[in-house]
Amino acid sequence: MTRGRRLKFAGVVLASAVVAFVILLVIAHRPAIAPVERPDPRSFAPALVARGANLARIGNCVSCHQSEGGRPYAGGYPVKTPFGTIYGSNITPDPDAGIGHWSRAAFARAMREGVGRDGSHLYPAFPYTHYAGVTDGDVDALYAFLMTRPAVRATPPANDLIPPLDFRPLLAGWKLLFFQPTPIRADPSQSADWNRGRYLGETLAHCSACHSPRGLLQQEKRGDAAYDGGWSGGWYAPPINTRSPAVRAWTPQRLATYFRTGRSRDHAAAAGPMGPVTYNLARAEPADVRALATYYAWWMRDAPAAKVDLPLPDRRAPAERQHPAGARLYEGACATCHEPGAPMVVAGRPVLPLGTPLHEDNPRDTIQIILQGLRPPVEASGPYMPAYADALTDRQIAEIVAYLKARHGSGPAWHDVEKDVAKAREEGR
Ligand code: HEC
Ligand code: HEC
Ligand code: HEC
Repeated sequence: MTRGRRLKFAGVVLASAVVAFVILLVIAHRPAIAPVERPDPRSFAPALVARGANLARIGNCVSCHQSEGGRPYAGGYPVKTPFGTIYGSNITPDPDAGIGHWSRAAFARAMREGVGRDGSHLYPAFPYTHYAGVTDGDVDALYAFLMTRPAVRATPPANDLIPPLDFRPLLAGWKLLFFQPTPIRADPSQSADWNRGRYLGETLAHCSACHSPRGLLQQEKRGDAAYDGGWSGGWYAPPINTRSPAVRAWTPQRLATYFRTGRSRDHAAAAGPMGPVTYNLARAEPADVRALATYYAWWMRDAPAAKVDLPLPDRRAPAERQHPAGARLYEGACATCHEPGAPMVVAGRPVLPLGTPLHEDNPRDTIQIILQGLRPPVEASGPYMPAYADALTDRQIAEIVAYLKARHGSGPAWHDVEKDVAKAREEGR
């Protein structure tokens, strides 16, 4: 190319970039919605507020909108993404720090379109891709519930994202690619319970936000990949479709008990990010929890669980020969609670091979449970499992995990467990 041509070429590239940028700003532009006086809490019917309280529990709102030691809905919880940290906003009715100046229309737009009152695009760490399907009546109820909470003057930390992703107009491009809300229509071939469960599960409960895999730009993969397993806060959310690795079938009855108590006789207690989900569901309307159980048992209806022969195999002797160090550590630290015949097991807690973690296709949940321990998420009373993060090295944890996998596990072999322990420590912080 001659110098003149090169200059011309550079000019065209630059001009195209400017045009693309202007187009982005035009597409991205959303008007602000005028502020209103903070609505009088007494103007909302108590029944509407109660309905909103139930929906907020199903929606798990408080989990992302309360910091450790902070007040409910005052924000500040760090939502970690591969691109940095986004903090849950203050959604109490404080006029300055919260959403006290937001009209019902501004709130509805945030829930359904992911746009703030001032017109700026919100990050999909706020699961509006799911909340988009919430009905008008339910948006009203959630608005009434939030506007009647105590106002808290607290400002969450500023988001910490790698540039240029901290530039909100770029989210308009993300939405063009990945955000096509489709209304949820009732399926007349299914029961009313199933349809209610689908509505709640696919919108407010946003189960798929954790239990479906994500692509490079953090978009959820649905279609054939829906509920195929995903990641959340350094934990693995296992498949809850026909690929569920659970050893015993998740029937509607067992799922309802799990959601309402955080525990199950036939499966491990809810751990990690699933703990708050059950904590909130335990306080939601029982009929709605049953509906969710009906719907998700349907997703798992053809999982292999029902086909596993019981009693479960216990390959104790070969596992001890293969992993002597892990076996000794287990005897010292874990056996008093976990061996068949231990008081906890006699009292109805599942034996280790019944828990799904040892049957998953990666060791992450088993590792996190050992690092962080397991507290019953719903009832305060024990027994609970202590955290071993400070007591055991990465190496020791990897040895115990290898022993347990060899003794009780199924599914694909786990490799590089020690490396994964280091990663789990890092991501679970
Ligand atoms: C998985 C975490 C998560 C859950 C669950 C969640 N939110 Fe949020 N929410 C966020 C984050 C993060 C932001 C801030 C997004 C941003 O800065 O772009 C946010 C922002 C918002 C905003 C906009 C506030 C503002 O000042 O811009 C509203 C309104 C809101 N959430 C309401 C709710 C309600 C109602 C629920 C429950 C039905 C809920 N959220 C559940 C993470 C969550
Ligand atoms: C003080 C008792 C106690 C000790 C000691 C203990 N655990 Fe636990 N562990 C529990 C309780 C309680 C649960 C949750 C039980 C349930 O699912 O209801 C649990 C759950 C687990 C789970 C989840 C799967 C399942 O079946 O519930 C794994 C894996 C696990 N423990 C491994 C270990 C390992 C490895 C050690 C030793 C390093 C250990 N535990 C030590 C009490 C204990
Ligand atoms: C914030 C992320 C998150 C959300 C939201 C979430 N889950 Fe989970 N879930 C997890 C993780 C992580 C685990 C694995 C840890 C454990 O076993 O408790 C899990 C475990 C489970 C299990 C146990 C699987 C097994 O075989 O042991 C079931 C069932 C389940 N989730 C169903 C649901 C349903 C239904 C919803 C929506 C109502 C939901 N989850 C919402 C993260 C989440």
